[in-house]
Formats: sequence, structure tokens, C-alpha cells
Amino acid sequence: MFEFRLQAQCPVTGARAGEFVTPHGVIKTPVFMPVGTQATVKAMAPFELEEIGAQIILSNTYHLYLRPGADIVEEAGGLHSFMDWHHPILTDSGGFQVFSLATLNRVTDEGVECQSHIDGSRHMMDPEWSMEVQQKLGSDIAMCFDQCLHYPTTKEEAETALARTTRWARRSKDAHTREDQALFGIIQGSVYEDLRRRSAEDITSIGFPGYGIGGLSVGEPHHIMYEMLDVLQHVMPFDKPRYLMGVGHPSNLVEGVARGVDMFDCVLPTRNGRTGTVFVSTGRINIKNQVYARDFTPLDPSCDCYVCRHFTKAYIRHLYKAGEILAARLCSWHNLHFLIKLMEGVRESILNGTFPAFRKNFIEVFHGEGD
Ligand code: GUN
Ligand code: ZN
Repeated sequence: MFEFRLQAQCPVTGARAGEFVTPHGVIKTPVFMPVGTQATVKAMAPFELEEIGAQIILSNTYHLYLRPGADIVEEAGGLHSFMDWHHPILTDSGGFQVFSLATLNRVTDEGVECQSHIDGSRHMMDPEWSMEVQQKLGSDIAMCFDQCLHYPTTKEEAETALARTTRWARRSKDAHTREDQALFGIIQGSVYEDLRRRSAEDITSIGFPGYGIGGLSVGEPHHIMYEMLDVLQHVMPFDKPRYLMGVGHPSNLVEGVARGVDMFDCVLPTRNGRTGTVFVSTGRINIKNQVYARDFTPLDPSCDCYVCRHFTKAYIRHLYKAGEILAARLCSWHNLHFLIKLMEGVRESILNGTFPAFRKNFIEVFHGEGD
């Protein structure tokens, strides 16, 4: 269980293609993981995610602990049964959400004392809490409880959070007992190369079956994120999966793969979808724009998703204007399909030795954020 098999490597870049074995199936990497924060990928039923080709989804410890509560999910037979998704699931530890959502946080080495963003109730969240909740949820991949800082931050703050994240990683590993769940470490260190290197050494010396790269895509320019990945790809274990947390834009995914990243997650396709922003092969468009009122072509003429096979821009624009919920569903559907197919194309190109050309072509054709 949790074997990571590397199948191909790009001879020019750091790109790799592999397979990660979990109790609920084999994940072909590189992979994009749709986000299902509340045990649902917003607006998408599980059979629709299967139709799109989603292999693994992500959910959140912080949210599910607060509502409905880990005990209820456990009583339902775990997260897979509760939400009827029988493929792999990764849960984030709460380390990120508690810092971005909860209020009145008091952070000590012990953990984070915080107030729920839902009802103001007080909670103590720490590595042992996170492991208990994630083990009740029963995800295939759990994440260590970490401290993620925003950008910019001082080096002193970054160093303190890094050291705390290492201590919390040890406590996470000690508290983690489920053998049918892989626990991944998380590397922090903000935008400081030496701190990234130190965090990678500290976390990998503890030893995990896979590693998250945290604290990136938190407001720093993209070139700085790429510099951090350039450093990390040479210090992270070669034979373990690498997961760039919370990233991101289509071009970030391709550039991340070029720097040795195997897994990504982001709310962007579903969040953008709900506001009518859709990815197309040439970049991004907003379907609410007046120019689409009489456009009877698909969102992306080169896309073969259900939405593009059946509906026109004019129709989807009309749904938005009329406030119909199908609009958000169709745009989320197409956007998820776009990122999942993008990663499938990337993987295919790594396997047949054409990734550098794939990357060059993508960057030339796709205009938008992230470059
Ligand atoms: N999601 C995006 N970034 C992070 C991070 O730094 N830590 C955790 N736990 N989750 C994240
Ligand atoms: Zn489509």
C-alpha cells in the first residue's frame, strides 16, 4: 500500500509521471485534485466527477470537524460512504484553514486556540486533534498539522513557523496510527531559499510516504514560487510523491510539473465557475460578457466535455443572466474537466517524451494569469 512507482521522467525538465497506490485505487500522476471542502465538490455529484475523470478529491478537516462533526462522518462509515465517493480522498489537516478562516487565533507551540467562523465557539486545534479527526474521516491521504504564513512575512516569523511545523510534524506522526491512511509531511519556509532547504531536510528526515509543499501561492509573485520549487526539487526525496498545496492557475500546474511536482489542488475551477469565469485553450473568458449574447459556439470549441458537446455560450450566458443554478454547474463542470484533461495531456507527454514541446506550446497558446 502507498507505493509510488515512477514510470517516466522528462530528460530536460524535472517532470515525472508515476502511480501512487492507495486503498481506494491507483492515482496516475501528475494529477489535479478537485476540492470538496464540505464533503462535496461544489455543484458536482460524484458520478459527474467520475465522468470528468477525477481520480482523487480533497476535503477539509477544519470544516468537517466543525460541521457535521467527525463522529457523524465516522458513524456514516467514513467520508467515502458519507459522500458516496469511492475513489481516493485526501484531507488537509486544518493547519491552513484555521489560519485563514478562524478568528481570534492564539498560536503557541501547543497548538492554535481559535474561534469557529461558523458560530464563534472556541476550539483547541493541534497535531493530535488533527490526526484524531482525519483518522475518523478515513481519508486515504492525511496531512500533517502545520503553520502556514501569508506573504509577505519576515524571515524571523518564517523561521519560527518552520520550527513549529517540524515539531508539529513529529507530533502528527506519533499520533497517527491508521495503516490504511498515508500521512504526508508539509514543507514550509515562506520565500526564503535557505529556510525552504532546511524545512525540506527536517521534514524528510522524520520520514513520510509523501510530501506537501505549503505556504506558496499565498500572494507572492509567481516567479518567486517557481524559485522555491527550483530549490525544492533537488532536496525532496525523488521516490516519493510531491504535492504543491492550493495551486492553482493552469500555467502554474504546467510550470509546477516542470519542477517535479506530482499533485495539485485548487478551488479555482469551481470558484471561477460559479462566477462565470471559464478556462479555454487560449486563456480565460467571462461568459456574462455581452459579446457572447449571440455566440452559438461551445465555451471552448476544442473541448470534448459534456458541457461543450451540448451547450452554447449564448445559452450559458442566458442562464447566468437569469440567475439559474445550472449556469454555475455547467461552468464548474467545464473548468474541472479543463484542468483534469490538462494534467492528462501533461502526463501523456511525459510518458512519450514530448513534455518540453507540450509546455512550450501551452505557454504560447494559453494567455492569462500565472506567467
Ligand atoms: N493549502 C494551501 N497551502 C497550504 C499550507 O501551507 N498548509 C496546509 N495545511 N494546507 C495548505
Ligand atoms: Zn468543455
